[in-house]
Amino acid sequence: MSNTNSGNITALPIVVLISGNGSNLQAIIDATQNDGLPVEIRAVISNRPDAYGLKRARAANIPTEVVDHKAFSNRAEYEVALQQLIDQHSPALVVLAGYMRILGDVFVDHYQGRMLNIHPSLLPAFPGLNTHQRALDAAVTEHGASIHFVTNELDGGPVILQAAVPLLPTDDAKTLAQRVHTQEHKIYPLAIRWIAEGRLTVSADEILLDQKPLNQPVKYHSTVKAC
Ligand code: GRF
Repeated sequence: MSNTNSGNITALPIVVLISGNGSNLQAIIDATQNDGLPVEIRAVISNRPDAYGLKRARAANIPTEVVDHKAFSNRAEYEVALQQLIDQHSPALVVLAGYMRILGDVFVDHYQGRMLNIHPSLLPAFPGLNTHQRALDAAVTEHGASIHFVTNELDGGPVILQAAVPLLPTDDAKTLAQRVHTQEHKIYPLAIRWIAEGRLTVSADEILLDQKPLNQPVKYHSTVKAC
């Protein structure tokens, strides 16, 4: 998914799917507006009409759409409608940012190698829900967030980038979630930047970062080069 044109970077067209607050969406919007992230957010689509992230998108003059899953009699029909709507915007990348529906195989296969998700744990630890409480219950020393490509295995696709936070003795699920969120807002724009700049590419059987096979996730720390 190279995005260079005679050495110049053109804005990568993306569509962002949300279900709720949209703080990760906001981080991506902010990075495009203030930090030179070379993407064009062609649309923000929510399955929930009341998602706060829709307001964030409108405030940034980004087109918004709602495909309410409750309006469909089954998941397959809902996903056909969602896919058609996404594809009208011809995105090179679909970005799941707090999108809280499990996606079916046909939909996932259609966007293979061009759909990212952010998950609030250091995958493969704690796929699924309630990750912060589960990390506390397991008394792990480190927790965090992961950016991964979406495959048919729930939260199981190849991980690109992770940020870790230590567990503190005073943590509860809320304080831990807040610290993880802070890291999410750094790593999602960065992973998208790698793709938009053509540094991270996907072929049938491998992911390359700067022309080298990405055999394990990059661990984010403040010195990871942004460009
Ligand atoms: C984040 O914790 C993300 O990891 C998970 O859903 C949450 C979305 O938060 N997939 P927000 O809507 O971006 O604020």
